[in-house]
Amino acid sequence: MNILITFLTVVILLISRIYSQSTTADSQYKTTEEITTVTTISTTTTTTTTFAPEVDHEWEDLILAGPTVVNYLGLFMVLASRKNQTLNASAEFTPKHLSVTQPLPVILSRISTDMQAAFKVASDDLIRTRSNMDQIPDHINAGLLLIQTAPNALLETLLPYTLKNVKRAANEGAAVTKPTLERFITVEVILEELVTLLSSTSATKEDDINYLMEAKAYANDIQMQWSLLVKLFKKFSQRADITEIRIVDSFIKPTEVASNLTTPNQRRTHLDKLIPAAIAIDQSSHLLDIMALTYAEISNEHMINQIASDKPYLTLATESARALSQRELWQNTIAQSVKVARLAQVRQNEFAATSSGRNERYSTYSKDPVAT
Ligand SMILES: *[C@@H]1O[C@H](CO)[C@@H](O)[C@H](O)[C@H]1NC(C)=O
Ligand SMILES: *[C@@H]1O[C@H](CO)[C@@H](O)[C@H](O)[C@H]1NC(C)=O
Ligand SMILES: *[C@@H]1O[C@H](CO)[C@@H](O)[C@H](O)[C@H]1NC(C)=O
Repeated sequence: MNILITFLTVVILLISRIYSQSTTADSQYKTTEEITTVTTISTTTTTTTTFAPEVDHEWEDLILAGPTVVNYLGLFMVLASRKNQTLNASAEFTPKHLSVTQPLPVILSRISTDMQAAFKVASDDLIRTRSNMDQIPDHINAGLLLIQTAPNALLETLLPYTLKNVKRAANEGAAVTKPTLERFITVEVILEELVTLLSSTSATKEDDINYLMEAKAYANDIQMQWSLLVKLFKKFSQRADITEIRIVDSFIKPTEVASNLTTPNQRRTHLDKLIPAAIAIDQSSHLLDIMALTYAEISNEHMINQIASDKPYLTLATESARALSQRELWQNTIAQSVKVARLAQVRQNEFAATSSGRNERYSTYSKDPVAT
């Protein structure tokens, strides 16, 4: 047995041992209850278009909504510091999350806390999605290499492990995105309530007219930006699902059916069939990895700490302090948008540039001689 194969054997067995230990902890994400919730969610919110990885630029725009929503919330807080405005529910509307007994600054403080929690969960869960997406190309390559070079007995022993590994990575990567998406949708519902409450609140004094008009505009803008973030997280989730489906349908199932990979000809034919699928899977998991990485960086640099430091805006006491804060927040919005847009574009270009290397790498599995 050659050294490469021995090495592969050890690596594959080790990998499958390590990852199978983490499955128990992750199984909580695969309950039927959760799957039901996610199905309900996708029927009640607008659908996101799922583009092929090579033409999916939509995420570059959606990701901008993160820093924008944080700055808009800050601006809204500056406005809300002017007075303890109370909101009014119309007779036919009962808010589920918000309470009309709380003045607007208290409501905004609560919304800020909910957003913070969503950002935190997203940042933790995306690390796990990324680590699963990272593994997928390794497992796929291990499978192809085995079919290409491993002696029959070894192939029969090891190929099932490889298939199990790639399936688990795909499944966990997809499952982890669901609770995060749910969390963002809950905040979206809360923002909708705020917009509804503001629209049924009318000014009682002359000087309230402008205040309420501005408040409604901010609430609408924030809701709009947040819905883009929901769309982004839906995109992460859909990309993970597509990757999983592709792995099962065009890599695992055909390989399980072709259990008889004994002759060089059978192996060659099967490799030729798997290579295009492997390229598509590698590309899809890589795109999700890049999108999640970019979001995580933007979140760390412009969102998580910023939203945590927003609350003092609610207690600004003078008009000059408010004017100063507003100026800062607008400047932030512009400066960050430029930075974020540029980063997203650089990442998308880097991703596009990986195509030829990927095709070349996978084509080696059809060139080299097949072992018997
Ligand atoms: C709003 O109410 C809180 C708590 O009662 C109070 O501390 C604060 O000064 C009030 N703010 C304004 C702008 O009146
Ligand atoms: C509150 O809502 C009620 C019922 O819709 C309405 O009649 C009333 O004018 C509203 N009051 C204020 C201050 O907005
Ligand atoms: C597998 O291939 C070998 C050699 O070509 C053949 O003898 C055997 O019958 C095949 N088995 C199945 C289940 O097709």
